[in-house]
Amino acid sequence: MTTGTHPTDWTYICQLQDIPVLGARRVSRPQGLDVAVFRNDRDEVFALLDRCPHKGGPLSQGIVFGTHVACPLHNWTIGLCDGQASAPDEGCTPKFAVQREGDAIYLLASELSGHAVAETRPVAGPVQRITQHKQA
Ligand code: FES
Repeated sequence: MTTGTHPTDWTYICQLQDIPVLGARRVSRPQGLDVAVFRNDRDEVFALLDRCPHKGGPLSQGIVFGTHVACPLHNWTIGLCDGQASAPDEGCTPKFAVQREGDAIYLLASELSGHAVAETRPVAGPVQRITQHKQA
């Protein structure tokens, strides 16, 4: 979390009170997956791509504790400061800069439009069978 004066690139998102304590609020983007903005019990605010590095679970629906969030799918623990999975799990989800001025929460416009836009969520479904055709 960053504090202090902000350049014009910061985009107002919401008020602190709009984010549930120990929860998150999702922010949609023109392209790419949503950003999850988290609030812990010390009113610290963090932002990560709303995608678990394990199998793409929605971190915004996880439980926040301290400076971590537990993924709702398989309970991996992800650091809110850096997006890193806690050992022994491995992986990282992209983080976003956050600024708070009073109770106003901001994200960087440049990150909302261009950061981690190529990240996708795994698609669930049946495995496709690949058949080989022999040619005579
Ligand atoms: S998808 Fe998050 S722990 Fe598996």
